[in-house]
Amino acid sequence: MTLLDGKLLSEQIKAELAAEVEQIKLQGGKIPHLAAIIVGENPASQVYVSSKIRSCEQVGFKSSLVRCEAATTQEELLAIVQKLNNDPDVDGFIVQLPLPKHIDEEAVTLAIDPKKDVDGFHPVNFGRMAQGLPAFLPATPMGILEILRRYNIETSGKHCVVLGRSNIVGTPISILLSRKGYPGDCTVTLTHSRTKDLPAEVRRADILVAAIGIPEFVKADWVKEGAVVIDVGINRIPDESKKSGTRIAGDVDFEGVAPHCSFITPVPGGVGLMTVAALMMNTLKACKGEIYGK
Ligand code: GUN
Repeated sequence: MTLLDGKLLSEQIKAELAAEVEQIKLQGGKIPHLAAIIVGENPASQVYVSSKIRSCEQVGFKSSLVRCEAATTQEELLAIVQKLNNDPDVDGFIVQLPLPKHIDEEAVTLAIDPKKDVDGFHPVNFGRMAQGLPAFLPATPMGILEILRRYNIETSGKHCVVLGRSNIVGTPISILLSRKGYPGDCTVTLTHSRTKDLPAEVRRADILVAAIGIPEFVKADWVKEGAVVIDVGINRIPDESKKSGTRIAGDVDFEGVAPHCSFITPVPGGVGLMTVAALMMNTLKACKGEIYGK
């Protein structure tokens, strides 16, 4: 069993990006600039956004953080989105999800200029992705592709089972892995809460992507010998042996499943760090006009 080391890969990717930013600086080009909007005090969102801003600093990008109080209205948030859409110095920006209940996430996502949508959440980017056109890919699926690519994991003709049909992970990764080319050419089964006999479906997987948000859901006897397991879960669960009283668990029972795998991502230290690395890659692409031109 080989651990798919998201920490190592994300550091490699950030070193590559930092080297490119150095070249851009030497040539007097524009420094990539990522902005992030966070609304309210969701503790997990605070951690994710801080990690994105810290990564910008590590690679030499400019970053801006727009903090909004939880009572911010939808109109106020849409006005901030418009301001970032129109700011020529901002190459890309994200609105951290989830948003407070009184704000319509769909309306906010639709307001983001697709050319600056480095999260790849706008339907224009999603549709382009689905058709295999150049697009900003959503960061978590893109991070997963990067793991497969950088560990040279064979995907052609493999049976991939995806657990969970969210717009930001399950649905896009199922499309991306069924697309032509590498990493892709998989036969994909997308499973969800109405799937009958989930363990039987999961047992057919050569590549399993677990993105269901239930801690340690996938058990050892669900996983075929030699499978590649990608665990997208980041769940906080009680653990009295920890000083904080909690620990982070994935969607896979790692202890039980790992001995059966050829490759598996740890949690933490797997997909989560790759999500941030992929966002940095998208920000550089936005700055260079790689998807939509300058
Ligand atoms: N919430 C959970 N994952 C993400 C993500 O990738 N981007 C944003 N903006 N919000 C999220």
